[in-house]
Amino acid sequence: MKHLVIGATGNIGARVAQRLIVSGARPSVFVRSAKRAKALFGNHVDIHTGDLENPGPALDTALLGVDGVFLVTDGPDLAKRDRAVSFAASRAGVRHLVKLSTLDVRTGIGTGPWHARGEDAVRESGVAFTFIHAAGFMSNALSWSESIRRAGVLRSSTGGGKIAFIHPDDVAAVATVSLTTRDYDGQSLVVTGPESLSYGEMAATIGRAIGKSVGFEEISDRQAHAGTVQWAGAGPYVDALVDIWRAVREGRLDTVTDGVKWVTGREPIPFGQWAAENAVSFQ
Ligand SMILES: NC(=O)c1ccc[n+]([C@@H]2O[C@H](COP(=O)([O-])OP(=O)(O)OC[C@H]3O[C@@H](n4cnc5c(N)ncnc54)[C@H](OP(=O)(O)O)[C@@H]3O)[C@@H](O)[C@H]2O)c1
Repeated sequence: MKHLVIGATGNIGARVAQRLIVSGARPSVFVRSAKRAKALFGNHVDIHTGDLENPGPALDTALLGVDGVFLVTDGPDLAKRDRAVSFAASRAGVRHLVKLSTLDVRTGIGTGPWHARGEDAVRESGVAFTFIHAAGFMSNALSWSESIRRAGVLRSSTGGGKIAFIHPDDVAAVATVSLTTRDYDGQSLVVTGPESLSYGEMAATIGRAIGKSVGFEEISDRQAHAGTVQWAGAGPYVDALVDIWRAVREGRLDTVTDGVKWVTGREPIPFGQWAAENAVSFQ
């Protein structure tokens, strides 16, 4: 079986490619930077260079002889890239496409509508698919690192609301099983971490991991927006984040599923383990 990973230099795609390599496979990757792919995977992958904004023949070449595609796309217009990849995959005779999507497709919050349109495009292509409806990633907590390092505090507009962040390794594990077994064709897999936690509880967990007290300070939506614009720039992405944080505060994203256990056979990784693995980022 030959697999192509699109988004292989990113948080989840790199983990999927690594899992395929560890299993003894030699995946292909479609990347904007061959240098970055080489640094990550050495000579263990077949590298195809191209840009999904203007894929041209590079994408068709990358899809030749491929059985399954793992697809990561992002941004308000991600459906355009989902359409380009899934239709090219269908033309190339690819048998299965696994798309990293979001739990918010079900709620319509934040990036949910972007991915809903992407899923529609994949369905229209006719290629067999699995959608990963993932909860927020634990790695989002890295955006708190500067404030925790400098001031020992996490500032957020999420109030006492809870969310069950998922470890990126669990997202990758579920994606890899779906890609390599075909057991989940036609399904949307809802995957979350093991427990819902408030941001205050996550701050305290990071504090335990670094051996220092880390506080939680509630801020308004307006303050959250202004603070996030400083590092992400104004635009629909920041609006989506503020939308998500409001939904957390209002208890609309407090969902825990057994999706990870159902697909991988093991319990999802707790936030405390993620915090211990990433303690150095907060010190
Ligand atoms: N963060 C969350 O809490 C969360 C929760 C649920 C779902 N999601 C979804 O997860 C996805 C993000 O996954 P991630 O964290 O793994 O993303 P990431 O780390 O930002 O990686 C994105 C990947 O896509 C590649 N890429 C971007 N534009 C490209 C283009 N035009 N052509 C080819 N490749 C391109 C990037 O390549 P370069 O290295 O060249 O930049 C990189 O490999 C999004 O769809 C998001 O909505 C996120």
